[in-house]
Amino acid sequence: MGKSYRVAVVPGDGTGPEVIAEGLKVLKAASAKYGFKLNLSHYDLGGERYKRTGEILSDETIEELRKFDAIYLGAIGHPDVKAGILEKGILLKLRFALDQYINLRPVKLYAGVDTPLKDKKPEDIDFVVVRENTEGLYAGAGGFLKKGTADEIATQESINTRKGVERCVRFAFEYCRKRNKAKKLTLCGKTNVLTYAFDLWERTFYEVAREYPDIKTEYAHVDATSMWMIKNPEWFDVIVTDNLFGDIITDLGAMIQGGMGIAAGGNINPEGVSMFEPIGGSAPKYTGLNVVNPLAAIMAGQMMLETLGEETAAAAIEKAVMKVVAEKTKSMSAGQMGYSTSEVGSLVAGLI
Ligand code: IPM
Ligand code: MN
Repeated sequence: MGKSYRVAVVPGDGTGPEVIAEGLKVLKAASAKYGFKLNLSHYDLGGERYKRTGEILSDETIEELRKFDAIYLGAIGHPDVKAGILEKGILLKLRFALDQYINLRPVKLYAGVDTPLKDKKPEDIDFVVVRENTEGLYAGAGGFLKKGTADEIATQESINTRKGVERCVRFAFEYCRKRNKAKKLTLCGKTNVLTYAFDLWERTFYEVAREYPDIKTEYAHVDATSMWMIKNPEWFDVIVTDNLFGDIITDLGAMIQGGMGIAAGGNINPEGVSMFEPIGGSAPKYTGLNVVNPLAAIMAGQMMLETLGEETAAAAIEKAVMKVVAEKTKSMSAGQMGYSTSEVGSLVAGLI
């Protein structure tokens, strides 16, 4: 008898429910084939619920979510709700409360997917970004003084703790070793300007590096990293960076791997409950049209299985996705796949 996992499903806003439905279709096919069980509990969180009830995310819900083996999330963000309310109130609150201190974002070009980078092939674009996920400029430190006056002051401070930085860096070294490809870890920072925050990062990085003599280390400023991701993406194996830089370079990464339609990520707490999501967002203009690409959500489900320890099933999902993008879909963009959202989900599920 296979194992059984309790998964909280949060379809969320916009196209979130549509892509999560396809992800679940694929996960169900995998569970039937590989003999593990998924006990799903749906949670209604997001902009619609907030508009209806005024509730964003209660402490009780967080306590309930803590008890699951994983969380499968669609998208959070609603055009009628002021920017920041749902993002901070749901997505960031969950990442922080569940101490999901790693945001793991693979950047991998599959054969048959178009990249805007001329002459770059699948073997050139295959790296993973380990983004710190609970600190930095996202910690919410700062505030206003004399708001709304001519003398207004706004501050926003980047919080970097030795513990927070070290556990992230350590995860990246371990991940790089386990991935076992080029075995090269790049620290992406800005030591030439952010001389406190990235001084701590750099010292921590090279101290921890001594415990990993098999891993090559390298440092790159974030601006240069952005340049090289376009010019020489093949230089990267694993990149570790802070929260904001990780946010920015993974959108860039999503574009070079073919777009938001295929980019997935995991908010990982290696000692607790992790949460998996397509990184694209709620895409309100496509809501309900059955045109968005569900592959990012499907790959988020794939990462979830891998993290839960169902590695064979996870590998089967990736293989199925690779076959669908190589042989079926015309594009990764909404409305241009040559298939509807639900058809793409069925194509992948059918290959499991
Ligand atoms: C992401 C998103 C979030 C972030 C937003 C929605 C708060 O852009 O997951 O990358 O900045 O982390
Ligand atoms: Mn982002």
